[in-house]
Amino acid sequence: MSVMKQNLKKVENLYDTVAKEYAETFSDEHDKKPKDQEILRRFSQDIGDRMPVWDFGCGPGQTAKYLKNLGIEISGLDLSEKILEQARKIHPEIHFRKGNILELEFENDSIAGAAAFYAIVHFTEEQVRIAFSELFRVLKPGGLFLFTYHIGEETIRVEEFLGKKIDIDFMFFTTDFIYSCLKKVGFKKIDIIEREPYPEVEYESRRAYVFVIKPTLQRS
Ligand SMILES: C[S@@+](CC[C@H](N)C(=O)[O-])C[C@H]1O[C@@H](n2cnc3c(N)ncnc32)[C@H](O)[C@@H]1O
Repeated sequence: MSVMKQNLKKVENLYDTVAKEYAETFSDEHDKKPKDQEILRRFSQDIGDRMPVWDFGCGPGQTAKYLKNLGIEISGLDLSEKILEQARKIHPEIHFRKGNILELEFENDSIAGAAAFYAIVHFTEEQVRIAFSELFRVLKPGGLFLFTYHIGEETIRVEEFLGKKIDIDFMFFTTDFIYSCLKKVGFKKIDIIEREPYPEVEYESRRAYVFVIKPTLQRS
């Protein structure tokens, strides 16, 4: 088994293990984070009535649900079948399916918009590059991608999460690294918004929201 596959299996097992607790803890998190709400409103306005829109690494579906309430026709995709069970139970009106961001089973130029909240937190730098290439490939020209990450240089090894014994790395990324990867892949209009953590609401790391657009074809 390749190193990349092993690492993904670990991530899948983690979210299978904590699925119920994760859903209970994070399902209403946007209600406690005004900046999330502002960013998601902006995303929904920019997307308008374009379709389809996907929430990649959707977890229990809180971001998909928030966008759905803003009028976006959205579906969710995740690696963990157990977390998808939670998502389907809490949001039966939304379509969720299993999939891997690093090997998206979508046609080229087929998606109008994608959100990915903290979906890259277990990716190596190499996997972040692959994920951005996949997003670029599947987005339609003019398509919009919004994602978030923890800002920093550290990797945190976590051995207990939501009351369960686990063993997983959470990766932080510098904004320089993220910016240069996005640029290399070909994204344009890269807008990175950083913020301080909300104490007592979330883990106290600095956060970033990133809006990028896949350029429309230029006539020569
Ligand atoms: C930190 S959680 C974020 C979940 C949710 N978006 C949120 O904001 O709470 C990371 C999620 O990404 C999913 N994930 C990680 N790697 C993935 C991959 N390669 N493809 C699809 N989903 C992935 C995990 O299963 C997990 O549900």
